[in-house]
Amino acid sequence: MPFLLRMNLRATFLICCLAGGVAACSQSAKQETTAATGVSTPTPPAAAGSGLAKKAGWWKETVVYQLYPRSFQDSNGDGVGDLKGIMQRLDYLKSLGVGTVWLNPIYASPNDDNGYDISDYRQIMPEFGTMADFDALLKGMHQRGIKLVMDLVVNHSSDEHEWFKSARASRTSPYRDYYYWWPAEKGTPPARYSTFDVKKDAWQYDAPTKSYYLHIFSKKQPDLNWNNPKLRQEVHNIMRFWLDKGIDGFRMDAFQFVAKDPAFPPMPGLNEQNFANAYNHGPHLHDYLKEINREVLSHYNVLTVAEGAGRNLTEAHLFVDPARQELDMTYHFEGTGVGSGTDTYKLTDLKRVFTKWDSAFARQGWQALDLGNHDQPRMVSKFGDDRPQFRAPSAKLLNTFLLTMRGTPYCYSGDELGMTNSKFNGIADYRDVAARNTYQLLQQQGGNEAAFFHGLARFSRDNSRTPFQWNATKNAGFTTGTPWIGVNPNYVTVNEAAENQDSASVLNHFRRAMRLRQQHPVLVYGQYQLLDRANPHIYAYTRTQGTEKVLVVLNFSPEKRDWALPPGLKPTGVPLLNNYPALATGPTLALEPWQAVVVRL
Ligand code: NOJ
Ligand code: CA
Repeated sequence: MPFLLRMNLRATFLICCLAGGVAACSQSAKQETTAATGVSTPTPPAAAGSGLAKKAGWWKETVVYQLYPRSFQDSNGDGVGDLKGIMQRLDYLKSLGVGTVWLNPIYASPNDDNGYDISDYRQIMPEFGTMADFDALLKGMHQRGIKLVMDLVVNHSSDEHEWFKSARASRTSPYRDYYYWWPAEKGTPPARYSTFDVKKDAWQYDAPTKSYYLHIFSKKQPDLNWNNPKLRQEVHNIMRFWLDKGIDGFRMDAFQFVAKDPAFPPMPGLNEQNFANAYNHGPHLHDYLKEINREVLSHYNVLTVAEGAGRNLTEAHLFVDPARQELDMTYHFEGTGVGSGTDTYKLTDLKRVFTKWDSAFARQGWQALDLGNHDQPRMVSKFGDDRPQFRAPSAKLLNTFLLTMRGTPYCYSGDELGMTNSKFNGIADYRDVAARNTYQLLQQQGGNEAAFFHGLARFSRDNSRTPFQWNATKNAGFTTGTPWIGVNPNYVTVNEAAENQDSASVLNHFRRAMRLRQQHPVLVYGQYQLLDRANPHIYAYTRTQGTEKVLVVLNFSPEKRDWALPPGLKPTGVPLLNNYPALATGPTLALEPWQAVVVRL
């Protein structure tokens, strides 16, 4: 197989994872319960961010709901989700209790990479609506105590942005230096790897000016030149434009890649495995962040999160050490990366990674937590078990995990229902530029199609981009038209309407877990301590703050498992959260398949 196709699919799709003698505690109710309410009704928790608007550090206490606008709700039957559609669902968002919504890009874009290729940073994509729709949406969210975080995509623009159109037309364009060019008379530019390019080549020859331009994503995503102070001022102004409208922060796309040495020194051996590290932390990255903070962010009380956390914990700290005045938090790829490119993963790896990253921020800084996003497969299909009998308990377990760890949880839309990877029948069903371009390369160079499709079925980003499953009517209630990407066929049983009615559903468990986090600051701030590190099936940890201490025990397996309580740990009362109706305790917890419990110590 050609070298490029012996790829680790991870790189392609990444960019882009109670004590002896304790009386048995058994809840007799058929449904799951929480001690917080004692009953299992789907009453909405208060929005996590409400009332915190003026509080510094509100972004630590909030829970972020990542919403993929293209796939959430279509309001006009064109098959594409839109802002008016989100408006129709604001009460649903409130019912979840999430404090913040992060919207994937909604700016004007030719959609080569679903909005991550922006042609006008101050306009709404017409498919999504108008600026008036945006203003109404922001107002509607704020009225419900929900904050709004926008994607900031400034490592690159679209090749259809006016800046690029002018820059490519002439070497003397005032916008020429907004991008990176390599004049052809200097020969072939030093090799750079591109993750979405059909040839994986980040240099595209452009005939009008006989030069190559740099694009580390697709050729329709030319990289912006951050060495140019004018470009940086443009970005500051764009940020101010949205912040002055009242938005509550930015998720900064591919930010670790923005800084580049314009001399483009050779990077021998660059490939799909090492490009992310090679591009990371270029010269002046932190100067740019400090400048952004000084010029823009310090004037607003907002949340900032960078995609990418450097190459190690020390570099991660540089982004978020409060003394440095750069950003609030970062998210790393190691968590969602566990098990990528393979059919299985080891729980001990997941524990190691999450424990390592928790320790990095134990004293300083803050982390973003996620198990899935729009670049990853569905979390239940990857880290849980999406077979029908285990889908619900394992999805509940994963949500319990996310909502009981230290850091700010980022919950990806649909994961609160336990939505799974979808079914695609061939390349025509896929929409993602990464999948389609890699398929073209496979066709040109030859290779193992079966292995390619096996990888796509498991890891394609399209798995998490299928329409939100609202109900059992045609197209899951997402659209009356033809959806831009196929609906997951399991919508008939896995959908919001059905789950809302069922107090034992994944959805109502999610609401209970949200409420629990809001009622117990120990779950936000408490010290995290891993227990039984080497256990290949059980992930157990305590969270401690002052005299408050809770134990979280998660059976990451489809079998019943006994777990002996470590000496000195005694649960008190009924579980604070349990994804089964009962918990059999004694010196040993007898856990059901994928059982997840939170108990007070
Ligand atoms: C990271 C985004 O999450 C991904 O969806 C996008 O394709 C790349 N950055 C390029 O913007
Ligand atoms: Ca629409």
